[in-house]
Amino acid sequence: MDGNGRWAQRRFRPRVFGHIRGSSKIKPIVREANRLGVQALTLYAFSTENWSRPEAELSVLWRLLKKYLIREADELDRNNVRLRIIGESERLGSDVHAVLGPVVERLSKNTGLQLNFAVSYGSRREIARAARLFALDCMNGKRSPEDLAKNETLLNDYLWTSELGALSDVDLVIRTSGEKRVSNFLLWQAAYAEFVFTDVCWPDFTLEHLTAAIQEYSSRERRFGGVSAPATQNVWPNPVPQQN
Ligand code: FPP
Repeated sequence: MDGNGRWAQRRFRPRVFGHIRGSSKIKPIVREANRLGVQALTLYAFSTENWSRPEAELSVLWRLLKKYLIREADELDRNNVRLRIIGESERLGSDVHAVLGPVVERLSKNTGLQLNFAVSYGSRREIARAARLFALDCMNGKRSPEDLAKNETLLNDYLWTSELGALSDVDLVIRTSGEKRVSNFLLWQAAYAEFVFTDVCWPDFTLEHLTAAIQEYSSRERRFGGVSAPATQNVWPNPVPQQN
């Protein structure tokens, strides 16, 4: 959800104004993703590097996260959405946990769209943590280093995304705001993701932009390092329905 700060500054408003406008875009995008049959949607809300931002900006972000959860829990539940947080949840404040815990628990049995908020998330930290946990399992005799040589996907079990199972592999990354970087986002999980970059800042990102990105994705041929064949042609599970 990149570009909130620049979006606001271009309008001579404080950066947090962009975050406020940006957070209002989450609801329609989640609803539309669910309607289109997207199985999992991960929103990069806060990176491990974002802790260096001014305290005033951080407190607005936490307030927005809590407000979103309180306001949207009912609709998410009605729409069968399940919610997870990926990242260093132990660094989040007790006030955030107090709101987050019950909502995650309430939605945990749902079977529709898997919505993930990446919060205090950084891929390098995630992979380093996974390596440490794997090494501990080796020291405890539960694993051997050779296990990873035989099956690299074993590392999935040690990532923050482990509970997502097959849904942890990313198909499409949409980066807003004109930046063409990965910025420490799901580096392992997005190894074979398609990327769509748009100049639009997150507060201006609409359902049409989402549909266009998915259509672009659907037109790509994913070879996963193999050779071209009609059977590997990428097809979105459901045809993208027309907007009303
Ligand atoms: C990136 O834009 C955006 C963020 C660091 C925060 C995104 C958070 C929200 C939209 C609201 C809170 C989250 C939830 C899940 C309700 P930026 O500030 O880096 O923009 P810039 O690159 O233009 O400075």
